[in-house]
Parts: sequence; C-alpha cells; structure tokens
Amino acid sequence: MGAGKSSAARGAAGALGTDFIDTDELIAAEIPGGSISGFFRERGEAAFRELEERIGLTALDRPGAIVALGGGAVESERIRAALADHVTAWCRVGEEVAWERSSGTDRPLARDRDAFRRRHAARQSLYEECGRVVLPTGGERLGTAVAPWLDLLRERPGVRMYWSRTPSGDAPAIVGPGATKLLDGAPELRPGERLFGLADRDAHAATGELMPAVEAGGPIEVTGGEAAKSLGEAESLLRELARAGVRRGDALLAFGGGVAGDLVGFCAAVYQRGIPVVQVPTTLVAQVDSAYGGKTGVDLPEGKNYVGAFHQPAAVLTDPAALRTLPAEELAAGFAEVVKTALIAGGPLWDSVRALERIDAESVAPLVFECARTKLDVVEADERDSGLRAVLNLGHTVGHGIEAATRYERYRHGEAISIGLVAALRLSGAEGLEPEVTELLRRAGLPTSLDSGIDTDAVLDAVGRDKKRTSEGIGFVTIAEPGDVRFGQRIDAGSLRRVVEGLSR
Ligand SMILES: NC(=O)c1ccc[n+]([C@@H]2O[C@H](COP(=O)([O-])OP(=O)(O)OC[C@H]3O[C@@H](n4cnc5c(N)ncnc54)[C@H](O)[C@@H]3O)[C@@H](O)[C@H]2O)c1
Repeated sequence: MGAGKSSAARGAAGALGTDFIDTDELIAAEIPGGSISGFFRERGEAAFRELEERIGLTALDRPGAIVALGGGAVESERIRAALADHVTAWCRVGEEVAWERSSGTDRPLARDRDAFRRRHAARQSLYEECGRVVLPTGGERLGTAVAPWLDLLRERPGVRMYWSRTPSGDAPAIVGPGATKLLDGAPELRPGERLFGLADRDAHAATGELMPAVEAGGPIEVTGGEAAKSLGEAESLLRELARAGVRRGDALLAFGGGVAGDLVGFCAAVYQRGIPVVQVPTTLVAQVDSAYGGKTGVDLPEGKNYVGAFHQPAAVLTDPAALRTLPAEELAAGFAEVVKTALIAGGPLWDSVRALERIDAESVAPLVFECARTKLDVVEADERDSGLRAVLNLGHTVGHGIEAATRYERYRHGEAISIGLVAALRLSGAEGLEPEVTELLRRAGLPTSLDSGIDTDAVLDAVGRDKKRTSEGIGFVTIAEPGDVRFGQRIDAGSLRRVVEGLSR
C-alpha cells in the first residue's frame, strides 16, 4: 500500500508501448457501486481476497501486459505461483511513508495503525520471495526509467535487478547468468557514446567470454593485486585513455576484482572531471561488495584508500559464473565479505550463510544478489558515508590496520578482514557469536589469527591512522547479534591493545 506501484507500472507500460492493467480498477469495476471499502464492510476480507485472486490470475495470463497488483495479492499461493513466469518488480516503501500515503483514504486496511504495521511487516517476506526486481518507492518516472531494463530481463529467468537510488542518481545492479552481456543487445542503454573496456589481465584470460562488448581494439589491461591500486597505475591508465582518444561523452567499463573496480572507477571519476563507469565484477569480493556503492580510489604508501572519490557506477553487471575460474584462495577471501555482509543483514541472509555445508563457486552464487542488496540498502540511506554507511566497515578497522602493517603483501584484503572480523567480535564482547563465525571463516580456509612474527604494535599504529578517525578518535563498528550492528563505538586503548595482541595467539 502506498508504494507507488500503479503509477510505476503505468509509466513502464507507457515506455514500452504495452497494455497496462491495474487490478484494483478491475476489482472496483466488478463490485456493485465500485467501493472496495463498502465490499470489505459487507462481505469481509476473505471474499475480497477471492475476488482479488481471480482477477489477478486472469490479468497475469495476458501476454505482454504490465500488471499492477494490489499489495495483498502475494498472500495468495496461486498468485505467487503465477508470478514465477513473470518479471516481478517489488516497489519498496517504508512503513511510515506507506501509512502517511494510505491513511485517511478510502483504503479499508489503512485505518488501524497497529494492524497496518503488523500487516506491513508480515508481507515483507512474501515480497522478498516474489520480487525478482527490487525498486525504490514508485512513481511514473521510475516506471519509465526501469522499463527497458525490465524488458531485458524477460528472457533471462535467473537474473535479478536492484534499482539503486542515491542523491547522485539512479542505477541498476543486475545479478545472474548472462547479466554481463545484457548491454550487448541494448546499445541504447549504454551510459556513453562509446564504451571503453579496462580489464584485469588474469580475469580476462580466465573468463574473457563474460566480458561485455566494448570499443574496437579490445580492453586495456589492468594488473590485479593491491600493488596496482596506486597513483602511478592510475596515471598510466589515464594516459592510455587520453592516447585512445576517450572523450567526455564516452564511458568506461571495469572488468575484474575490487582492485580493477576501485582503480578504473577512480580513473572514471577524475578523467576529464568525470565520465560514467560500468562495473563488471569478477571476484567474490567485488561481486558481493566493492563493485556497488561508488567508493573508488587508490592507496598511498601512508594509508589504504587515502586518495579517491565517490563515483556511483552507471550500472553493475554481475555474473556469478565468473567465480568458477577464481582461485580457491581468492574465493575464500571474498567469503570474508560475505560473512561480514550476512552479519550486518542478519535474518535470512545470515541463516543461509551459517547453513553452508561447503564454500565454493556454486554454493556462494545464490548469495551474491542478497549481499549486493544489503550493501545497496545501506548506501541508499547514507551515500557519502556520514553515518550508517560506517556499518559496512565491520571488521575493517583492524583488518585495514593488518593490511597496512604487513605492507599489503602478507594477506589478501579478505584474509585481513577475516582476522579483523574476529577482532570486531571480541571488541564487541560478542562471545556467543565468536565461535560460530570463527568456525565459518576457518571452514573457508581463512585465517582467524595473526601469523607469527607480525608486529602487533605496527598493527595498532596503523589502526590509529585509520582514515575514518575524527578528532574524537576512531569509531569502531561493533555487533551485538546478527542484524544488530552499531557504528561510531569508542573503544579504550587498553581493550584494543588486548584484542590485537590476542590475535597473535
Ligand atoms: N570500493 C569498495 O567499496 C571496496 C569494498 C571492498 C573491498 N574493496 C577493495 O577491493 C580490493 C580487493 O579486491 P579483490 O579481492 O577482488 O582483489 P583483486 O581485484 O586483486 O583480485 C584478486 C585476484 O583475482 C584475479 N581474478 C579476478 N577475477 C578473476 C576470475 N574471475 N578468475 C580468475 N582470476 C581472477 C585477479 O587478477 C587478482 O589476481 C581491495 O583493494 C579492497 O580495498 C573496495
């Protein structure tokens, strides 16, 4: 209720030139006098649901039409089964906004505040189950913008889309088999006049068939590994772009892991003061985390990610098939970000992650979309990292300190985050959770303590230089339980030292 789905559907149908069916209108047309609230009063909710189901099923049978269903339609099992053959988009709306928009209208279920709240909460899992596409609160303009993307998904049943909305603009994140090739058949959806590809050399050699079509001449090569995230590399790439004649109206495409994504994203952010970038992530770290959210940048010898820019991708195209060629240690490193994300999300994502029996490309692929969604939900609430976005740093304050203290040579990013997560759990006093998370990380082959010989003073020094520190000190992210994560927590120096020193044992 109040999610703007009818106007979004009308906008989408208009943009695609297809029929538009609003089931609420059809229901009203069948009711004598046309009053849904009168029908509710006289015949009760069950009779209304029966009518809604019959009309909904007929509408969903009409080939090619765009159908706006009532908010309660998904409570019908038969409707849910029929939706499986459709591209189903869920327009999300917060409970408060939904109430504001619905109360005081003729809607029979928007009269009692508590009952409304309960109903809203109870339906969320049904929307999550049915919504292959996740949209923000609707409106005709949203419908028009998403329509061509929805159209692309018709022939691709396993592909899901999250439409991210931030103050910088709207952009789709698309996950599933064939997602990286979507733009090949839809040049009109490319963000620039010409699309220039930059690809991680090893990713391209291993799984180049997933690379989208780019400007003639093929992709410019980028080296993987943290050492490539430097100003020197950025300068080389920027000069290559200039030599290739890339103009302001063109766009870049980054194919590779978090390093290629951060580096190419940074080049796109600064090249001629900014051109669009499409992210095509090929590592687990990038598919569940780094490709989304618009943080780009490079390291300085003095600190990780010390130079960078917010630059939201014009689109993120993610095909988990890329994970099949990823070396086992890289997959494990990405699993640390999966665990982090699941701890932040709690609920069904955490349940799926803790239930994993093995950790490989096949078993993690179904988690990629939910991880991306969790991150994008947070970014939507705080694009520029002035508050809530800090929760995404769970495990990262100590993790980054470990990376810096070991000169980015000893551990992969995800491996350092694995140890950092253990530190975060200890700093949070989450003793109940620690054994389970540690076991999960170990099962993936990740380190959960520091190798011998690592200087814990150097780690503590590096933590002290964390770029998120303010004049008041460092704000740590702590966790009480999965789904209950807090940012900006002050930790006294003695406790921090005890925990970091404890990582050596
Ligand atoms: N921007 C963000 O929000 C954000 C979030 C998390 C992490 N990061 C950054 O991400 C970086 C780590 O990313 P990463 O772990 O993806 O490392 P990476 O990009 O270096 O990739 C790891 C290795 O895998 C290879 N590779 C990539 N895809 C492959 C494939 N499909 N098959 C075979 N080999 C493949 C690469 O060549 C590289 O050697 C760090 O710098 C970290 O700071 C950024």
